Amino acid sequence: MFHSCAHVVAMLTEKQLNDYARHGYLILPDFVDDVTIEGMRSCAENIVRDFNPESVSIFSTTSQTTTTDDYFLESSDKVHCFFEEGAFDGQGHLQKSKDMAINKIGHALHDIIPEFREWTRSARVTELLRCLGYKKPVPVQSMYIFKQPTIGGEVRPHQDSTFLSTDPQSVVGLWIALEDATVENGCLWAQPGSHQEGTRRRFVRQGNAVSFVGDMPDVDVDACTPLVVQRGTLVVLHGSVVHYSKENRSMGSRHAFSVHVVEGMNHYLEDNWLQRDPSFPFVPLYSM
Ligand code: FE2
Repeated sequence: MFHSCAHVVAMLTEKQLNDYARHGYLILPDFVDDVTIEGMRSCAENIVRDFNPESVSIFSTTSQTTTTDDYFLESSDKVHCFFEEGAFDGQGHLQKSKDMAINKIGHALHDIIPEFREWTRSARVTELLRCLGYKKPVPVQSMYIFKQPTIGGEVRPHQDSTFLSTDPQSVVGLWIALEDATVENGCLWAQPGSHQEGTRRRFVRQGNAVSFVGDMPDVDVDACTPLVVQRGTLVVLHGSVVHYSKENRSMGSRHAFSVHVVEGMNHYLEDNWLQRDPSFPFVPLYSM
């Protein structure tokens, strides 16, 4: 899939492309400037400030599963806020202040909110995807992740292609550190080379129900490496690389923004959870 990007600005070296092919991830420091980072952070702050948890029925104790699924599925073309597990007590009362109990915002920030849209469609991102060999890169999903102090829980080992599939597979995650990511505050961990085994488990949608098909085998934790990166770093994550993050044990947050891109020339599977209405289609960055 990779080809030389010498014909455009040489954003990635041959070595970086080889490392990405071998390990399934690539770390690009100083990819995002401070102004962009601050713009994204204040945007997220405003979204949370304006969000009224009582305006949605996701915390109903009587039909928690159904309503939570609907709120999740409807976020494919919206900007929805999701709370940490355990943010509420049995009566639906928040245990912490709203801004400290949010887990993430998803999943159409890249299409709806100008600050996220501009970065996603920027020349640098476009160039990067060209270097990675994408002929028609389509951003399909985005998330602002808070990883709050003390409540920011672990994210179990997974492959992003479990949640978004094309045939053949083409998902790539672009993950920006909006704050330094350390072992203590719950940085990403990845198992180098694990992407070469392909997708092991899929999260599929049937109507308004979602479920997992297939099993994740045991992850070789000893083979995993922490991706300790500074604010402004972009981590490129192959869709099939096994990765996870531990809980945030620090006193500070660990904000990140991620966008998932697929190859628009490949078939986007109809049973992916994330579907768009024809009135609000996915928009490719370019088409070769
Ligand atoms: Fe992930």
